[in-house]
Amino acid sequence: MPAQRWATGPGRVNLIGDHTDYNLGLALPLAVDLGVTVAWEPGGDGFTVVSDAYPGEVARIPRRPETATLTRLEPVWARLVAAVVSLARPATGGVLRVSSTLPAGAGLSSSAAVGVALCALFGAGGTPEEVARLCQEAEHRTGVPVGLLDPLVCAGGRRGHALLVDFASLATEHVPVPEGAEVVVVDSGTRRDLRNAPYADRVAECAAAAARVGRPLGLAGEDDLAGLADPRLRRRARHVVTECRRVRGAAAALARGDLAVAGALLDESHASLATDFEVSTPELDALVADLRARPGTFGARLTGAGFGGCVVVLAEPGALDPAGLDRPAWRVRAADGALGPTGG
Ligand code: GLA
Repeated sequence: MPAQRWATGPGRVNLIGDHTDYNLGLALPLAVDLGVTVAWEPGGDGFTVVSDAYPGEVARIPRRPETATLTRLEPVWARLVAAVVSLARPATGGVLRVSSTLPAGAGLSSSAAVGVALCALFGAGGTPEEVARLCQEAEHRTGVPVGLLDPLVCAGGRRGHALLVDFASLATEHVPVPEGAEVVVVDSGTRRDLRNAPYADRVAECAAAAARVGRPLGLAGEDDLAGLADPRLRRRARHVVTECRRVRGAAAALARGDLAVAGALLDESHASLATDFEVSTPELDALVADLRARPGTFGARLTGAGFGGCVVVLAEPGALDPAGLDRPAWRVRAADGALGPTGG
């Protein structure tokens, strides 16, 4: 019997650039030193899957799951595993044990972390882009219409760096996180499942706006907005257009170590996500306002899809003590993506 192997997929925090990926815009995420580890004891034909996050539950997955069955598979948390198995086509089944240091459903991309860990285990994909496309297709097969942001950085992140991604070309650039900055993630404690959240509505609204403008919103400019008669679509488009500008500005500010400017752009991003894109919540707004008012913080914003989840804070090292906050929080460091070695 082959020995057990394992792989860890990092989670990600998006420093700035949300709801831009599926609009072919820009984002600046980082892979973090919290993640999901999957251990695989190969053998047998199907898979038995257990997860620390769901004690007592056991999922059984055929080695060749049929795509049509994926959105009905129980338990729900195993659907993504089954979808990756259906695409990666491992040569044998076995027992998969999933354990995580990432809070589930908090917007730190535990699902992309699982996806890239499985790809590393099964030897599927190759480049970060190939792994990301496989993971994205797996999510789509489970009915969640995500973009490439999460798996791309979970697979292709680099220690000490954020990843500037242009989703139109998939060109990436590693941007060093300056010594004088620390990234802290604070969990609002509120959750919204992306399958039920208005995430798909936002994707559809952006597609409608892009169709009227005549190009993807990530490639549109402020001049294009005037042509959008529907005020809701105009607000959605304005968020995307201005967010891409902020991402560019934040990447340049980080590169020259200008944390005040980078922080101010994070603040503006939150305002835009709250008012134009309408994906914030009163809890997230209050948390962002509280964190931003603390000494030594440069800026704060919701991170990821929104509708709940986490806030990312750019702060002076040591300024914000996670233990001193009244909710779960982590000091995170930019980590390597999961294309590295698989243990065994
Ligand atoms: C989720 C999706 C990503 C991206 C973000 C918002 O995390 O998985 O593809 O759209 O929301 O930026």
